[in-house]
Amino acid sequence: MENEPLGITASSCFALAGNGCLRNNSPMERRGRVRVFITGGSSGIGAALGQAFAARGARVVLTARHRGRLEEVREAIRRQGGWVEVVEGDVTQDNSLVAAVREACRLLGGLDVVVANAGFGVVGKVEDLALEDFRRQFETNVFGVLRTVKATLPALRESRGVLVIMGSVSSYLTVPGAAPYAMSKFAVRALAESLRGELAPYGISVVLLTPGFVASNIRRVDNRGVLHPDAPDPVPGWLVMPAERAARKMVRAILRRKAELVVTCHGQLAVWLARHLPHFVRFLAMRLRARSSPQ
Ligand SMILES: NC(=O)c1ccc[n+]([C@@H]2O[C@H](COP(=O)([O-])OP(=O)(O)OC[C@H]3O[C@@H](n4cnc5c(N)ncnc54)[C@H](OP(=O)(O)O)[C@@H]3O)[C@@H](O)[C@H]2O)c1
Repeated sequence: MENEPLGITASSCFALAGNGCLRNNSPMERRGRVRVFITGGSSGIGAALGQAFAARGARVVLTARHRGRLEEVREAIRRQGGWVEVVEGDVTQDNSLVAAVREACRLLGGLDVVVANAGFGVVGKVEDLALEDFRRQFETNVFGVLRTVKATLPALRESRGVLVIMGSVSSYLTVPGAAPYAMSKFAVRALAESLRGELAPYGISVVLLTPGFVASNIRRVDNRGVLHPDAPDPVPGWLVMPAERAARKMVRAILRRKAELVVTCHGQLAVWLARHLPHFVRFLAMRLRARSSPQ
């Protein structure tokens, strides 16, 4: 979040929220204050989603492993009039996540929206990586999402709410050197599409979010999940969408129960190419080098 500090771009929304002039224009919002639970809420897209939901009058519980970072996000949202609580939780630990969900349900009295967002990226050539690197990637990005789904389903069944799964443009295409991350994102896209039909009878909608490059810490986190706050983002700035802008688009899609949202123009182009011109994408991928990361 260093280059996209909370509150800079959304201050006007928060001012509105503070004055009670909320834009309650979705059916879910008209039923009352939307109750939102977000994993990976201490940074990047998760923190910005928390901010964007709170700006619309939702009550938000954020979870992540680092209490200090969660508290910084909480204070930034509260300063601007939003309702937010934070709960420590690790999506790779069954008990930790179950306890976080229980606490969120206690604080909110139920859940209308659950965002399975926590994630990071393991990169490198397959021949250079150990199986353990793939396991670590899947434990957070795939099993962490599954844990979130299983722990929150009872509450979502009760509210006939929305389950949001954070995919990526890497759910559709990949480049040499990005296999573990792309494998994990292909997997959660499959999970979202399977769950869509399974949960429809309970009135639960599944929203798949498919971001391209969005400003966050993800490209400053190494293969072991350790953040290097001073590392530069290797992606050129003009390709990266501010997290607040991406989050506002995402929140609108979630509240409208849209099946999928691809965010950023280049992300939409990439997904279109993957769907319609896969041979061309393979041709390009052969020529691309793997992105660098702060190992
Ligand atoms: N930014 C992009 O360009 C982009 C593009 C496509 C998809 N995405 C996806 O967006 C999601 C959010 O990433 P981001 O870009 O916002 O990165 P980020 O700034 O690094 O945020 C990642 C969040 O996940 C949390 N997290 C990581 N491991 C966790 C664990 N085991 N348990 C609980 N929380 C955990 C982190 O908090 P703690 O370290 O405090 O636990 C942090 O809050 C990821 O799923 C990512 O794959 C991002």
